[in-house]
Amino acid sequence: MVDNKKSKSMLVLGIETSCDDTGIALYDKQHGLLDHVIYNQTEIHKLYGGVVPELASRDHLLHIMPALAALLTRNNLSIKHLNAIAYTKGPGLAGALLVGATIGHTLAWANQIPVIGVHHLEGHVLAPMLEENRPDFPFVALIVSGGHTMLVAVRAPNQYLLLGETRDDAAGEAFDKTAKLLGLGYPGGAALAALAQHGKPHFTLPKPLCEKRNRHKVSLEFSFSGLKTAVKNLIMTNQQHIDRDSELRADIAYAFEDAVVDTLVAKTRQALLLTKYKRLVAVGGVAANCKLRDSLRNLASDLAVAVYLPRYEFCTDNGAMIAYAGCQRLLAGQQQDDLAIVIKPRWSLMDLSS
Ligand code: KG4
Ligand code: ZN
Repeated sequence: MVDNKKSKSMLVLGIETSCDDTGIALYDKQHGLLDHVIYNQTEIHKLYGGVVPELASRDHLLHIMPALAALLTRNNLSIKHLNAIAYTKGPGLAGALLVGATIGHTLAWANQIPVIGVHHLEGHVLAPMLEENRPDFPFVALIVSGGHTMLVAVRAPNQYLLLGETRDDAAGEAFDKTAKLLGLGYPGGAALAALAQHGKPHFTLPKPLCEKRNRHKVSLEFSFSGLKTAVKNLIMTNQQHIDRDSELRADIAYAFEDAVVDTLVAKTRQALLLTKYKRLVAVGGVAANCKLRDSLRNLASDLAVAVYLPRYEFCTDNGAMIAYAGCQRLLAGQQQDDLAIVIKPRWSLMDLSS
C-alpha cells in the first residue's frame, strides 16, 4: 500500500457513474487535476423523456474502460501509475453506481492500491476546489442538481450542517419538467434557460416558500412542485396560441426561470445572514445557469461575501470532483480495507459529518 501522507505525488483515478454521465478523471495530490473526460448519455435517454436506469448502467459499462484507456494514453500514463481509486458510492441509481463501484474495486484489487467510495454531493460541494481560486472553510453551499436542492453550512472539511432542502421536486427536476411542458425535450434545463433569454417579464409565477414568516425570516426549505403546476395552468390558459407563438413560450420560460432564481437567491441570502459566513459556493447542474450565477454574484456583492462558482463542466456531474473528494479522504487516512463492493443509492450528506 502507498503511504499517502509521505509520498509527494499521489495519482487518484476518479469514477463517476451515479446517473447518466460517465465521468473519469486523473487527480494528482501535487499537480492537481491532470485530465478528465465525460461521456454524456443524453442521446440515449431523450427518446424516453427521462433517464432509463438499465440503459444508463449498460452505457456506463460500455464507456468506462475505453475512456480510462484513452485518458491514460493521452497523458502518457498507464494503470501502474495510479496510486488510488475513488468512485461514487451514492446517492444515485443502484445499477449505475454498481458499475463504477465494481470497476473501481476490481482495478484497486488487481493493482493492490487503496480504494474509497465517495458521496456524490460531497463531490459537488468540493468542485470549486478544482479551480485556482478556492474557498477556505467555512462556507455556505447551495447544492442545486437534478436530484437535490439544499443549503448546507460547510463548517470544515467533512462537517456538513443541513440548513434547508426541498420538500418535493429538486430545482433541476423542476427545470426538466417545465422544459418538457414547453416541448423542449430532455434534459431541458439548459434549453429552457436558452429560451428564457428571448423572453420578457409578461407573467408572474409564485415564488414558493419565499414569504417572510417568523420574525421576518424566509424559510430555508424549498418547494418547486407547485411552480411546475402553475406553469402547466399558464400553458393551458394560453393553449390556443402556444404552438404558434414562440414569444409566448419564451415569456413563460422567462417567468419560470425568474421564479426559481429569485427563490434560490432569497433562501441563500437568508442562509448567509443566519450563519454569518463570508463565503458562498453554488454547485450542481443548475449552478451552470447564467441568470442564477449573475444573481448570486449580485447577492454576494450586496452582502460583502466572496462567491465561488465552478466552471460549467464542474457544475454538472463529472469524475474530477469525485477524484478530488476521494483524494482528500485518502489523505485524511480513510480507505476501504475489505473487498466488499458497497454502494448507497440513498445516502444523506449529513451522515458524513464527523
Ligand atoms: O448535477 P447534475 O449534472 O446531475 C445530478 O446530480 O442531478 O444536474 C443535472 C440538472 C438537470 O436537471 C439539468 O436540467 C440541470 O441540471 N441544468 C440546468 C442547466 N444546465 C443543467 N438547469 C438550469 N440551467 C442550466 N443552464
Ligand atoms: Zn450530481
